[in-house]
Amino acid sequence: MIAVGSDHGGYELKQELMEHLKKRGIEYKDYGCYNGASCDYPVYARKVAEAIVSGECDKGILICGTGIGISIAANKVKGIRAALCHDTFSAQATREHNNANILAMGARVVGPGLALKIADTFLDTEFSNDERHIRRINLIENS
Ligand code: RB5
Repeated sequence: MIAVGSDHGGYELKQELMEHLKKRGIEYKDYGCYNGASCDYPVYARKVAEAIVSGECDKGILICGTGIGISIAANKVKGIRAALCHDTFSAQATREHNNANILAMGARVVGPGLALKIADTFLDTEFSNDERHIRRINLIENS
């Protein structure tokens, strides 16, 4: 189950993302926002982050205008590794190296075509399970 969330800046891209996930047969849960009215990105970052640390969802995708605020907010929750990615190389690398559990994107930075490719790459890439990457992730988690 994939948790998705956005503020008003990411609302439209989130709608496109959910359509895309539906077409791919990927189950998701929308944690808001639920319309394009101005709202506060930390609220939705927290909802998605808590859905992941509670085990309700496996991974998350968060979208705001830049992706910056919503990723900063999500990374405040222990156990969350939110990666801000605007290219597929980073989306692949953050899954393989960081075992990132949230992808953050900025709807004012990337177009929908690229955003969906980035989301696919993130969702389709497994963690490498390499010892050195596990060690580094543990250093993050235990700091
Ligand atoms: C909202 O205007 C904007 O600040 C927000 O979407 C995001 O870009 C914050 O980092």
